[in-house]
Amino acid sequence: MKPINVGLLGIGTVGGGTFTVLKRNEEEITRRAGRPIRITAVADKNLELARSVTGGGVKLTDDAFAVVTDPEVDIVVELIGGYGIARELVLKAIENGKHVVTANKALLAVHGNEIFAAAQARGVMVAFEAAVAGGIPIIKALREGLSANRIQWLAGIINGTTNFILSEMRDKGLPFADVLKEAQALGYAEADPTFDIEGIDAAHKATIMSAIAFGIPMQFDKAYVEGITKLDAADIRYAEQLGYRIKLLGIARRRDEGVELRVHPTLIPEKRLIANVEGAMNAVLVQGDAVGATLYYGKGAGAEPTASAVIADLVDVTRLHTADPEHRVPHLAFQPDQVQDVAVLPIEEVVTSYYLRLRVDDKPGVLADITRILADSDISIDAMIQKEPGEGEAQTDIIMLTHQTVEKNANAAIAKIEALPVVVGKVTKLRLENL
Ligand code: HSE
Repeated sequence: MKPINVGLLGIGTVGGGTFTVLKRNEEEITRRAGRPIRITAVADKNLELARSVTGGGVKLTDDAFAVVTDPEVDIVVELIGGYGIARELVLKAIENGKHVVTANKALLAVHGNEIFAAAQARGVMVAFEAAVAGGIPIIKALREGLSANRIQWLAGIINGTTNFILSEMRDKGLPFADVLKEAQALGYAEADPTFDIEGIDAAHKATIMSAIAFGIPMQFDKAYVEGITKLDAADIRYAEQLGYRIKLLGIARRRDEGVELRVHPTLIPEKRLIANVEGAMNAVLVQGDAVGATLYYGKGAGAEPTASAVIADLVDVTRLHTADPEHRVPHLAFQPDQVQDVAVLPIEEVVTSYYLRLRVDDKPGVLADITRILADSDISIDAMIQKEPGEGEAQTDIIMLTHQTVEKNANAAIAKIEALPVVVGKVTKLRLENL
């Protein structure tokens, strides 16, 4: 059967991996897809690199627009990243009737609604398995494997860089800044690691998953985003003493009032499987009403793991290439006219449990004052430790875990606690999910 022709935009790490895996597993992939999938055109600023990866035999250009308008190209694979030129190229490819495969989570989280509307109108597919959790087929699972379920919530470790940093902070007892330097030296963290450590990359991925889990539009601008830069190694230690690990979680939860969409450091009971996901690995836990909890684990980045997802999309698109658009899996899992504009709740309306660390004067009645404020705010204490004051110290740390409450209620109680003369400085507040 006639091969399907792919135009590749960007032949860096993932592009190179895609080229290598497509070649290595050519026969198996063809048996699955029903026809050969071949890269016929590559655009990259670095033509030298493109030549060395492809070994020639494909059209090479430094003009990506030449690929998205190439009449011989059936599918455009966008691996450039970012929201700028990538958006223009993807829209241009769609306008030219090309199907698109992309690993670009930032682009979809921010401009996905526009891109999917354009693709719907033009009758082309936009596939994005590689955009979330690299090689883990979580998009396929959410969009197809779990389609019988009303998905209630999902929680994911969806940024390998921060998971590596948190694992190292716990294992070695080192502060954030030291481990970040180590992560950069090992090549895990980018020279500018802002998107990873500030939680933005995880929020892009959580936004995409929330859309296909609940049938809502992409609402990245409403997501609550808190990274790990302010996390103190002492809190990782105290959490451990209480039987918890701290992970940067991307959480999407459906409630009657709306949807919670948030990324922040989170305490998780250490006995949960997901609490034991270490190093740069990713994992996503999904709760459906029929299936219960399911957990997806694997590599969230890297050349071949991400290529695995890109090529799975290429196979899907190849199989459905000639199907009527209405017989394909909808972009956002739900039929386009069934996507519901459900509000993302502000963080003050989120319901969760809390870890609180307070520095206090070590005197009688301090604990009674604090617990009185919590009781008056209807916040129930789940566990507590009070440290022995250090030699010659008149102050000590109290660590409390609370049961669930609305965030604004927790904030009001914390403000009252901070106003007590025996409480020193700010209260450290982290969220806790029992999952
Ligand atoms: N920078 C991401 C991470 C990988 O650290 O997981 C690409 O999404």
